[in-house]
Amino acid sequence: MESVFSKEVEIPERSSLKEDLRVEAAVIGGGMAGILTAYALKCQGKEVVVLEADRIASGQTKNTTAKLTAQHGMIYDKLIKHYGKERASVYARANKIAIDAFEWLVQEKKIECGFKRVPAFLYSVEDEKKLRKEAIAAHYLGIPAYFTKETDLPFPIKGAVCFENQAQFHPLLFIKEIAKELKIYEKTKVLSIKGHEIKTEEATVWAEHIVFATHYPVTNIPGFYFLRQHQERSYVLAVKGVEKPEGIYYSADKKGLSIRSTGEYVLLGGCAHRTGKDKRGGKYAELRNIAGKYFPGFQETAHWSAQDCIPHDGLPFIGRYSLFRPYWYVATGFRKWGMTFSMLSAFIICDRICGRENPYGKLFSPWRLHILAGAKDFLKDVGESMAGLVKGAFHLPYKELEKLQKGHGGIVRIGLKRFACYKDEQGKVYKISARCPHMGCELEWNPDELSWDCPCHGSRYDHRGNLLDCPAQKEKRVSEE
Ligand SMILES: Cc1cc2nc3c(=O)[nH]c(=O)nc-3n(C[C@H](O)[C@H](O)[C@H](O)COP(=O)(O)OP(=O)(O)OC[C@H]3O[C@@H](n4cnc5c(N)ncnc54)[C@H](O)[C@@H]3O)c2cc1C
Ligand code: FES
Repeated sequence: MESVFSKEVEIPERSSLKEDLRVEAAVIGGGMAGILTAYALKCQGKEVVVLEADRIASGQTKNTTAKLTAQHGMIYDKLIKHYGKERASVYARANKIAIDAFEWLVQEKKIECGFKRVPAFLYSVEDEKKLRKEAIAAHYLGIPAYFTKETDLPFPIKGAVCFENQAQFHPLLFIKEIAKELKIYEKTKVLSIKGHEIKTEEATVWAEHIVFATHYPVTNIPGFYFLRQHQERSYVLAVKGVEKPEGIYYSADKKGLSIRSTGEYVLLGGCAHRTGKDKRGGKYAELRNIAGKYFPGFQETAHWSAQDCIPHDGLPFIGRYSLFRPYWYVATGFRKWGMTFSMLSAFIICDRICGRENPYGKLFSPWRLHILAGAKDFLKDVGESMAGLVKGAFHLPYKELEKLQKGHGGIVRIGLKRFACYKDEQGKVYKISARCPHMGCELEWNPDELSWDCPCHGSRYDHRGNLLDCPAQKEKRVSEE
């Protein structure tokens, strides 16, 4: 289902690229990260184009909840422990500056996108102690934050950490205005990148600098981002008929809600899981259940889901793609805080291309060496990927085609091959190969989204084999019977 943001905004279409081009910079991907980076480069007088496979903002950006904050969950206590006070302060400062930059742009360009300064709360209905600890950590870093039990939530809490002067906005109204000044080619999928040369379906672009803003990097080597992050999917409900909180909220509890209001709606998010690990489904039902507990009597008007890249060490990758390609840049690993991190990507990458030092570049550099901070998650991820790769060899397919129920999907062995099969409500079967084209892991059925999701790095396909989410880049051939 569409998000309330996409329902409300129509962004004018752009043509696809049909002729070869030579430019100073090419940005691949027209989500929040790509558009802001291209905009920053244009402001520096660079000749820049955006190459977008589909429509701009049609990826995760249209499904975000668009809270602009430096309050990113239970993070500062951990950051201080893993990286020390100085680097934890840099993290907070960088995100604060990103919010200020959004405000400045909105005012300067008079963009009507509902930008509003609001307090951000990290709250818990279970545990006061952990929040007090987080408040102390924030305070220690000089962030104007405090512990409180007073919020405008319609249910009791044990406590909250409040960051004042954060913000929220409508991401698509914002992007629509920013994009007006940019040279963008839509329906222009990048098929391969070799050195400075980018091949699209109908043309070749030669670019002095190339920015990968494809959400998950689409080139495995060099870079090896598939070893450094996985993807997590979460679910959102837009509801009416309940009290609308003014602040923006993020839960520190395992089964909590992220909350903000926009127009007549309250957006309730949660039920995150590793992409490709939702075999049993029921995430929307679970979210409705939690929502009903805290916002009784809510009327649901829309629901949708989205995913983001989760780096092992908790920090995004912004900067040089690889030491072997000094003219390639990347913006990924936003850990569901990609609004402020997109703005930071624009600053850091633009400064790099213009030959300037950026004060935040070092902390978020893809080539930082914070190995210990991410070691546990790295090993877990390698384990998940190995399991996904060998699954086909050891696991028996759990369904016979005849046994597959209508409206369900399952892996079926036909002859010696394994297929991902979906039987629609009329009994028609859609069959695609069970292997993910990215690196060969076996796809898993997602009953909530009726999609085939890869547990290794999070690529997704619909039942007809159309690619929904990268890093995979190839469509799949479907056979119908
Ligand atoms: C449920 C949820 C709620 C969230 N809420 C918040 C929030 O409140 N605040 C916050 O800061 N962050 C939030 N986030 C995170 C944020 O939405 C994302 O980090 C951000 O939208 C990512 O933007 P992006 O530009 O990197 O990716 P995308 O928006 O996915 O853009 C990538 C683009 O690249 C294009 N592309 C891919 N491959 C190719 C190719 N080969 N050629 C050309 N183009 C290509 C795609 O079509 C796509 O348009 C949330 C995330 C989730 C999952
Ligand atoms: S996404 Fe990497 S193997 Fe599927």
